Amino acid sequence: MSTEKILIIGSNGQIGLELAENLRKNYGSDNVVCSDVRQMENQIEPFEVLDILDKDRVYEVVKKHKITQVYLLAALLSATAEKNPKFAWDLNMNGLFHILDMAKEGILKKIYWPSSIAVFGPTTPRLNTPQYTVMEPNTIYGISKQAGERYCEYYHQKYGVDVRSIRYPGLIGWKSAPGGGTTDYAVHIYHQALKQKSYECFLNAQTTLPMMYMPDAIRATIELMEAPAESVKIRSSYNVAGISFNPEEIAASIRKHIPEFTISYNVDFRQAIADSWPQSINDSEARKDWGWKPEFDLDAMTQVMLDNLR
Ligand code: NAD
Ligand code: SER
Repeated sequence: MSTEKILIIGSNGQIGLELAENLRKNYGSDNVVCSDVRQMENQIEPFEVLDILDKDRVYEVVKKHKITQVYLLAALLSATAEKNPKFAWDLNMNGLFHILDMAKEGILKKIYWPSSIAVFGPTTPRLNTPQYTVMEPNTIYGISKQAGERYCEYYHQKYGVDVRSIRYPGLIGWKSAPGGGTTDYAVHIYHQALKQKSYECFLNAQTTLPMMYMPDAIRATIELMEAPAESVKIRSSYNVAGISFNPEEIAASIRKHIPEFTISYNVDFRQAIADSWPQSINDSEARKDWGWKPEFDLDAMTQVMLDNLR
């Protein structure tokens, strides 16, 4: 029997839905409380409607369920954040402060908070981007994630908070829809390939970005959270790598299954965001510290995406 009681905040999003499924399997359904600002139809219980910005309500839910660990997923992603920068800062930062403070007070034992490749910026080396390098993000999302990383490390060093984090690349899965990021095209393309055998991409053909198939990302998250505390040497956030590809390459991978598939390009404001991010990530620290290793390459991911979406 698990002695952990887990709360996922932002559980109805792209990552939360798949993370909840996996945590329930590992810890037992009753020990994983889902929560989100919006309730879905057929919402799986236990579930609480919870706004991370409402600190009192967060305390209430944590106390009610005797929560020991929180996975904080509520945030505005890169493209949405550019449209509403003030609110993005408020949500992405204050949500994190509420959880860090509860861990500082000893109410929570362990916290997971995701960062992003968006912490890097146009002055970062773009190929095989190292864990430690120049970081001058120029999107509000990236700035909030970088500040969040600094706060996580600070709370760990000053107050001993057990906070763990991964700089996710763009995540691709078939079970849930993406929530307003620059890498969302790599999910939409599979849906459109099956629906209409064509896709109009908002990034140009050569835009190579780091990506990852969702089951790899969920496994990385849980492996990091279950690693012994002494193995988790980085308390800002870990680089992890999966696959790097551009729109032309994912289209070619889809054509191996749907030969008539075509891609066209109509770039928008998200091109500038993508151009400020790395093309590939060096994840040697995660491999060394807690044994991270991705499983899916582009063609393996295309195969499972198309099989499942069909
Ligand atoms: P998402 O937008 O799909 O899901 C976020 C969820 O949070 C939504 O269900 C939303 O309803 C909920 N939410 C919004 N405001 C809330 C509030 N005030 N209180 C409670 N819940 C609220 O996002 P996601 O893709 O699942 O991302 C989760 C986390 O992972 C974010 O921090 C994001 O920055 C990070 N991340 C995601 C990716 C990716 O490719 N998906 C990549 C890097 C980092
Ligand atoms: N997938 C995310 C986004 O595009 C990266 O953090 O915003």
